[in-house]
Amino acid sequence: MSELHEAALATAATSTAEAAATNAVVREPAGGSAVVCSALTYSFGAHTAVDHVDLRIEHGETFGLLGPNGAGKTTTIRMLTTLLRPMGGSVSVFGVNAAERPMRVRRMIGYVPQMLSADATLTGRENVQLFARLFDVPRSLRHERVESALAAMGLAEPASRLVKTYSGGMIRRLELAQALVNSPSLLVLDEPTVGLDPIARTDVWEFIARLRETADMTVLMTTHYMDEADTYCDRIALMHSGSIRATGTPGLLKAMLGQSATLDDVFRHYTGGTLYDDDEKGGIRDVRRARRTAHRLG
Ligand SMILES: Nc1ncnc2c1ncn2[C@@H]1O[C@H](COP(=O)(O)OP(=O)(O)O)[C@@H](O)[C@H]1O
Ligand SMILES: [Mg+2]
Repeated sequence: MSELHEAALATAATSTAEAAATNAVVREPAGGSAVVCSALTYSFGAHTAVDHVDLRIEHGETFGLLGPNGAGKTTTIRMLTTLLRPMGGSVSVFGVNAAERPMRVRRMIGYVPQMLSADATLTGRENVQLFARLFDVPRSLRHERVESALAAMGLAEPASRLVKTYSGGMIRRLELAQALVNSPSLLVLDEPTVGLDPIARTDVWEFIARLRETADMTVLMTTHYMDEADTYCDRIALMHSGSIRATGTPGLLKAMLGQSATLDDVFRHYTGGTLYDDDEKGGIRDVRRARRTAHRLG
């Protein structure tokens, strides 16, 4: 069972207790910030993977967390999605502290992890139905939510086929449908297009962009691809060795370096490095390979 399935089960199992404890059905996000990280810190042994990260993501934004492999992006996201408990500082989602109220935070989030979260031996529809049950979508709403999530991701027609017949791009869209079945206020995507060919990458982004037009949703994503961040993000944060080095709109960050600067130049300016370091161990190539293996699916 994946970490995501376990988290969903935990959410479902404790939902009644938490509802009683909080005595509230508060699910609607108020205006203001979707995510606030304050001095957020996490270490693996002696290695500080996330080092006093301050970050504010506004309601309705598409926000990109950019950085090379090992920068600390996934660890930050795992604290935000309550899969890891912060060792220092705090993170809140729509004003709810993730460490204090993990179940309430999980219910507001749709999460597409870096690693495969769809089951190849089920059909597309069965996968989305499984998530609807895991996330405790009320029985009376399930059918409609499952079908509309599949349709929103362009999967209505292939929904009854086994996932092992899907292309990499279709699997990514299915994982998005799984994350959407919960009607999340915050959609979190960890490397949504890594390992996909350029056409499938654009395709996935167009579905996300279309979704943004119709749903009141904040999107947080991580990526290695500067061009994607430039095109699709309202604001970005550059992360390197566990810290945020710069935050702003892609336009502003580029303008600060001069007229012809690219986002790659901006990244190099703030970190002294590049996102595409081929010698880097466990770098982008490894991630690509991992995603490719995952896509082959038995
Ligand atoms: N489970 C783990 N055990 C030990 N070290 C880890 C673990 N997960 C991540 N790390 C380390 O923490 C750092 C940040 O990793 P990660 O958050 O996955 O970065 P990114 O998502 O930006 O590639 C890396 O140096 C990585 O090796
Ligand atoms: Mg990562």
